[in-house]
Amino acid sequence: MAIGVYPGSFDPFTCGHMDILKCAAGLLDTVVVAVLQNTGKTPLFSVEERVALIEDAVRAEGLKNVRHDCFGGLLVDYARNVNAKYIVRGLRAVMDFEYEFQIGIMNNKLAPDVETLYFMANPEHMHISASIVKEVGALGGSIDGLVPEVNKSSIIERLKNR
Ligand code: PNS
Repeated sequence: MAIGVYPGSFDPFTCGHMDILKCAAGLLDTVVVAVLQNTGKTPLFSVEERVALIEDAVRAEGLKNVRHDCFGGLLVDYARNVNAKYIVRGLRAVMDFEYEFQIGIMNNKLAPDVETLYFMANPEHMHISASIVKEVGALGGSIDGLVPEVNKSSIIERLKNR
């Protein structure tokens, strides 16, 4: 079984994340989308809410081999706990490379048995990031096509009441 973990903050999960997830789900037997329990930031959505939004988006896409979860601690420890041999990450433009290069090497040093797979974002979604979605949405701009349709109203509602 080729199991991959797709980790991230996903605050919120975007159409760019969905592109990467679909690519990984097409290649691997199972992909676990794992939301980082990051206590250091003030997120838009709680970890549980983010997991629920991802669950809705995955169901709407009909992805049968995708699971969802949250994790704390080291990513490679979590990957080993769920028997994942792969970590899935997306690359948008050059700006992502340095950061991904750094965490990729670190994870490889910590766990040489866990391989990181990088997927290129669809050019149509290369400009999307969770922070751009929050900024545009909070200022009243349209987030159509930036986040999964099924999550849109929850995100707009939360940004309004923030
Ligand atoms: O979506 P993000 O915020 O870019 O995801 C970052 C993430 C979750 C992949 C990274 O912060 C992470 O793996 N955190 C867990 C802690 C860890 O394992 N750190 C060592 C690798 S640098």
